Amino acid sequence: MIYTKMKEKDTDRTYYLSIIADKRDKKEVEEIMIQSEKMSVAGQLAAGVAHEIRNPLTSLKGFLQLLQAGVRKEEYYNIMIEEIEKMETITSELLFISKPLTETKKLESIDSMIRDVIVLLGPQAKMKGIFIEYGGSEKDKIYCDRSQIKQVLINLIKNAIEAMEQGGSIRIVTSSSESHVDVCIIDEGPGIPQEIIHKLGEPFFTTKQSGTGLGLMITKQILERHQAFLEVKANEQIGSTFRIIFPIPA
Ligand SMILES: Nc1ncnc2c1ncn2[C@@H]1O[C@H](COP(=O)(O)OP(=O)(O)OP(=O)(O)O)[C@@H](O)[C@H]1O
Ligand SMILES: [Mg+2]
Repeated sequence: MIYTKMKEKDTDRTYYLSIIADKRDKKEVEEIMIQSEKMSVAGQLAAGVAHEIRNPLTSLKGFLQLLQAGVRKEEYYNIMIEEIEKMETITSELLFISKPLTETKKLESIDSMIRDVIVLLGPQAKMKGIFIEYGGSEKDKIYCDRSQIKQVLINLIKNAIEAMEQGGSIRIVTSSSESHVDVCIIDEGPGIPQEIIHKLGEPFFTTKQSGTGLGLMITKQILERHQAFLEVKANEQIGSTFRIIFPIPA
């Protein structure tokens, strides 16, 4: 901390000037930001998750009432277990993103990360009349921190959902070559106006009333930590494509 006493010549007033410098290094500050963005996203998704849990709960209650009334069928138990499993999956996804930031890089299946994120964001999309199309890509693996890359996927798919006011489809397409694995998130939103494209990823740049404008900045930071990068382009017909490129080390 730097601390100085100053006196104004004309009025004889005394001022104290202090500059407080945050000594934490860039990486530590970055980690705090990633974690806090993660918690903010978890909060935003909680409503969708609660909504999604209500249906299986209603169905469970119905089956229990039937059993109570003496209507007993073996298949009821199977349906009830399925409903409980649905609730388990979505709540554990929400808890997973609420956990503290990790930095454990392993070889991870891109397919299973995309599927986990769809479990979490599917309800949000469904409520807006949006269908998430994903064909699967079982073989592609990347060396990454699973939780961080899921945060990237959540941020990009959440942006796609938020951009699509009229409903429609979001396509997630993966492809791979010898040198890289790509994930494309293709939306049918209004696209990104040319004049703001260079601002994407700047801290606090948002065009949304309730946006924080941190999603793409955090996304870029996480990708940098993985030597990966993001490309944005306009689709021919409608919307934009956000492409994540993960180079495969030689
Ligand atoms: N798929 C998209 N289609 C159209 N515009 C987009 C898309 N993704 C991002 N944008 C634009 O980029 C801006 C910045 O996105 P970013 O994710 O960084 O912040 P945000 O979504 O506004 O807020 P937050 O992610 O913190 O909730 C958005 O406000 C929006 O204008
Ligand atoms: Mg966003």
